[in-house]
Amino acid sequence: MTEPDAPLFRTWQAQRGARTMVIDRAENARIHVPGEGWKWDMASQSYNVNVGHGRREVIEAMGRALDAAVLTAGPNVDLPERNILAERLRSMAGMDRVFFALSGAEAVENALKIAMLVTGRRKVVARRHSYHGATLSTLAVAGDPRREPFWEGVAGTWIDDPYPPRMPDGGRPSDWVESLEAALAAEGPERVAAVVLEGLTGTNGVQIPPPDFWPKARELADRHGFLLVADEVFSGLGRTGRTFGFEHFGGAPDLIVLGKGLTSGYAPLSAVLVSAPVARHFDDEVLWCGLTHYASPIGCAAALACLDLIEGDGLVGRAKTLGKALIDVLADLAKHDDRIADVRGRGLQIGIELACPAESVSRALWNEGYFVPAKRHMLYVCPPLTVEAAALEAFPEVLARALAGASAEGST
Ligand SMILES: Cc1ncc(COP(=O)(O)O)c(C=O)c1O
Repeated sequence: MTEPDAPLFRTWQAQRGARTMVIDRAENARIHVPGEGWKWDMASQSYNVNVGHGRREVIEAMGRALDAAVLTAGPNVDLPERNILAERLRSMAGMDRVFFALSGAEAVENALKIAMLVTGRRKVVARRHSYHGATLSTLAVAGDPRREPFWEGVAGTWIDDPYPPRMPDGGRPSDWVESLEAALAAEGPERVAAVVLEGLTGTNGVQIPPPDFWPKARELADRHGFLLVADEVFSGLGRTGRTFGFEHFGGAPDLIVLGKGLTSGYAPLSAVLVSAPVARHFDDEVLWCGLTHYASPIGCAAALACLDLIEGDGLVGRAKTLGKALIDVLADLAKHDDRIADVRGRGLQIGIELACPAESVSRALWNEGYFVPAKRHMLYVCPPLTVEAAALEAFPEVLARALAGASAEGST
């Protein structure tokens, strides 16, 4: 709890009695809370610590960068780690150029600016149940309720994405595709610069798109000349058991946005990966984008070390295998426990939809040694991709106990 005279604002809550957490040690997938002991970090803090806490490899790489780099170098100073990381990212994604920023929101904004510059258009279409960051324009674009204090009554142009979706059937597309087409028609597709989609939705419910959605979005982008932007800030770099979340669903994007897992929280860095045809536009046109801390050498060093760990430790495959096993067991549990309405996800990006508000279940899980974030009726299970298998194997039983405990508490 925050003291009344605390100097630091706490995020996303009123300050009086704000909830805080003290962590004095963190190792791989666990955090140590003084007086409470070790907890499994099923949130990867902010869904970003893909390679685990306390990784010496990352810390040492940042230390070497501190010694070697000209830390005060301006944005267009050529530093080796900047070029090495950009080269690594573009070849990993089959893209052409890389633009760096510091946060996920800032990278999404730059991706949208690039789409506007290339197309000469201004409109952006997004999914209703999506989040693309907390800056004014990313809040304006997405439908996440966190937009409301700023954009209440000002609707974005949203694709309705009811869940579960109506599947394509007998020549009729899914309701998501119909809604995408309707959104484009409402704006005039010739005015749309970009459709931005999370590679796999994060804290707006981990909805799995119907199979026609991404391929159709690609087809419509080609037909109407807008750019398809995959926001992989949450779902990228192995989280879903593929390098990028969109790979599960087809429909290659023109731009890919990375954040969070790029540096696993060890340093601030995000990136926009840009395909060759889009990048060519800027060969002779000005790229009206830039920031003081562009491609920070410490961030680049952290990202390179994280990519080494993701590749070297086979974390993409690990997320796939561990995640599938956990989803299967949880889905089985859901069949016998009507307090679980649905289990969905890919890899270690898992959402558990409960039939009751999730907050009390999250508290019960905390008491069982698991930090599992809750939002409305959803629990989110997104541990570091390095999480010990035993922690996941034990989880369904712990969840069943927490659900029983929470409903007993609710009935007293
Ligand atoms: C899909 C997605 N995009 C963008 C962002 C914004 O990232 P940041 O908080 O680093 O600005 C987030 C953060 O949760 C996210 O989940």
